[in-house]
Amino acid sequence: MNFPDDLKPQRQADILQPCVRAAIDLALNLKQLHWNVQGPAFQPVHEFLDEIIEHARAASDDLAERIVTLGVPALGQRVSLGDATVPTAEDTFVKDTNTLHYTHTMLESTILTLRKAQQDLADIDAVSEDLVISILATFEKDHWMIRSHLK
Ligand SMILES: [Fe+2]
Repeated sequence: MNFPDDLKPQRQADILQPCVRAAIDLALNLKQLHWNVQGPAFQPVHEFLDEIIEHARAASDDLAERIVTLGVPALGQRVSLGDATVPTAEDTFVKDTNTLHYTHTMLESTILTLRKAQQDLADIDAVSEDLVISILATFEKDHWMIRSHLK
């Protein structure tokens, strides 16, 4: 497929790739919290984390496939990801309230990465921007729900 001359697929891919990394990191880090959460709110937190993990996995898939659609290889292997893009939690059991705090921070970090990408894409590719916006809507709703537990 030939893209319009004003589209620069490599430039778009370079903007989208950090979002792929952040979504993969988010899914991995939240899975660790899903397994290790402890406390009176274990069940709802354990289950809600899996919902957000599904959102993160779907996001990484959609973002990576957008990169490939543009004709650029997507990078998703852990070895190719480099340093973590999303904050990590302790390597042990985590109390339910702390789990919510970690999840809040991780989502916030991911949202900031996606917000930056959305701004960078705004003038160069509406389709990629639209994908990022739709993922932001999902993550920002998840963020609101986690935030509401912390009031
Ligand atoms: Fe599970």
